[in-house]
Amino acid sequence: MTAISRAAQFAQRTAHLRASTIREMLKVTQQPDVISFGGGLPAPELFPTEAIAQATQRVMERLGSAALQYSVTEGIPEMRIWVAERLTRRCGGIFSAEAVQIVNGSQQGLDLVGKIFLDPGDHVVLEDPSYLGAIQAFDAYQTRYLTVETDEDGLVPESLEEVLERADPFPKFLYLVPNFQNPTGRTLSGRRRETVVRICEHFGLPIVEDDPYGELRFEGTDLPPLLSYRSTAPIIYSGTGSKIMAPGMRIAWLLVQDEAIREKIVLAKQGADLHSGTFAQYVFHEYVSDGDAFDAHVRRIAQTYAHRRGVMAEALAEFMPEGVRFTRPAGGMFLWVTVPNVDTAELLKISAASKVVFVPGVNFYSGRDVHDGMRLNFSNATEKNIRLGVERLAHAIRLYQR
Ligand SMILES: Cc1ncc(COP(=O)(O)O)c(C=O)c1O
Repeated sequence: MTAISRAAQFAQRTAHLRASTIREMLKVTQQPDVISFGGGLPAPELFPTEAIAQATQRVMERLGSAALQYSVTEGIPEMRIWVAERLTRRCGGIFSAEAVQIVNGSQQGLDLVGKIFLDPGDHVVLEDPSYLGAIQAFDAYQTRYLTVETDEDGLVPESLEEVLERADPFPKFLYLVPNFQNPTGRTLSGRRRETVVRICEHFGLPIVEDDPYGELRFEGTDLPPLLSYRSTAPIIYSGTGSKIMAPGMRIAWLLVQDEAIREKIVLAKQGADLHSGTFAQYVFHEYVSDGDAFDAHVRRIAQTYAHRRGVMAEALAEFMPEGVRFTRPAGGMFLWVTVPNVDTAELLKISAASKVVFVPGVNFYSGRDVHDGMRLNFSNATEKNIRLGVERLAHAIRLYQR
């Protein structure tokens, strides 16, 4: 059989699968002298390697083969209880461990949500711009998007209302990242949170709240997750250990209070991978079960990122040509730079030659063609490289403008 006739047998949905620019770019960044603001990698020097080694040792001594056996699809009881308690603390409500589904990275959670809700041609409501990985996950289900405007306070409720009033067919859910959004770093303001929940309630639209960065706040006061608000519209909350512990563990969770949705998710997860790794779940739980040490660890990450965000913002103010604007996020791992009249996808070619890379903003938009934005990651570079990288980037912009 030739390669061409084999390709002809692929499912139609594969035509919607796009190569991720980010993954492609990560290949370029393997060169040691390239400074990357492109990926979304946490700082590896903050991974608690020693404590994880000790936790692994304790799990093996205490549980032995039980930690290596198949386990239930929903996740090990210890992990589900830990997630329910942590969210109860953050939200002020009371969540039961029953509502928790452990998943293999929140990326899997997004895929499972797509799998249970989306038929070809269905619509999903997204912030514009929105997280590229979510778009990729939903694309596999041949989805179309309705986009909602955003500003410095996150999603604009009036725009959401307008979109929902006009929507035909009616969308299946709203996907949003309310805290320190990927890609813009912006946060949905406290005032808008309840409004968004009420609008979705009014229209009967489920909400998928993706919150990988909520615990990485540098300044200001914590805002309640949308999950905190009582709502007749189902809220599917997605959290992850990737940014507060280590992404290689692939431990993440969904909290879903709606029983019917949860049942479908369990069935979809069973078909996908039976369950998340038993061993990883036990080690993760063993590590986080010393609550004070874990909280101190999360604070240390936030402090380091706060410092790096500050260094990047200062360098941008110092080196960038006039007219360049940037966000100054109060948490998370990304900031967003707008370079008026510059196509940042073209700029990337020049900047890569100057050995600094970023993600062009156009990749995150599904509603409009916006070419003058770029996402910069500040968690994964040293202070020295952040300054040097921003200086190189400013130089690349000047070359482009010539
Ligand atoms: C908004 C958002 N959702 C989900 C993910 C995926 O995280 P995980 O490692 O839990 O799959 C990321 C990772 O960058 C993200 O930024």
